[in-house]
Amino acid sequence: MQAGRITVRDVRAFKERGERFAMLTCYDHPTARILDDAGIPLLLVGDSVGNNVLGYETTLPVTMEEMLHHTRAVVRGAARALVVGDMPFMSYQSSLEEGIRNAGRFLKEAGAHAVKLEGPHPELAAKLVEQGIPIMGHLGLTPQSVNATGYQVQGRTEEAARRLLDSAHAMEKAGCFSIVLEAVPADLARQITESVACPTIGIGAGPHCDGQVLVVNDVLGLTERPPKFAKAYANLREEIARAAAAFREEVAAGTFPDEEHSYH
Ligand code: KIV
Repeated sequence: MQAGRITVRDVRAFKERGERFAMLTCYDHPTARILDDAGIPLLLVGDSVGNNVLGYETTLPVTMEEMLHHTRAVVRGAARALVVGDMPFMSYQSSLEEGIRNAGRFLKEAGAHAVKLEGPHPELAAKLVEQGIPIMGHLGLTPQSVNATGYQVQGRTEEAARRLLDSAHAMEKAGCFSIVLEAVPADLARQITESVACPTIGIGAGPHCDGQVLVVNDVLGLTERPPKFAKAYANLREEIARAAAAFREEVAAGTFPDEEHSYH
């Protein structure tokens, strides 16, 4: 495992060396410490904090203040990983100035190392890169547009696939250091991956992307109804329920606290 902070140059080098890499979403300090120690090189403070942690139905209500709050906690826990802050809905869509100001806040006020933009925004991405703010693009299914597109696989028609390919080229040209591809057919993800120099990071986009990202709640088995493409590597829902019930039962039985867990 590489010593020292992962940089955007390292992320580009993963692709140059043909090295597959993992990214996970992360929303809090203890989880950041664990994922960082486990060698996850990229942590995304996704606006999926909205539906995974804050109890919102979608990512749309998530605010800049909520994103900054969670990003600070993750940054404090990540000694090595590159931390990417996710620009929430309506923090960059209304004007370039607002987008630049809010992207800057992630680096200046929360200590993030890069920010992610949903959808094709090459003009804004280029301006941010010019200001020294590394940008991760996000194309395909973009959950901030759920009211327009639904949670559907994107790029299924020839015309939609062509538009996605063009958007990927535009975001690459704008200077993105990586591009997330969400819910696109595996063949199209391969085509995009082979035609851009920056790494692609897939989620529900098949095996051909340079990297893969999953939502940490899905990986840990915390999500009640995970999406089809997600894989649970643990079952923390069961573990947490088991631990809570065991505590409840021991308190009711008067067996906790015992001698070992008391001060004298
Ligand atoms: O917010 C998020 O979790 C994301 C990932 C799904 C890429 O954008």
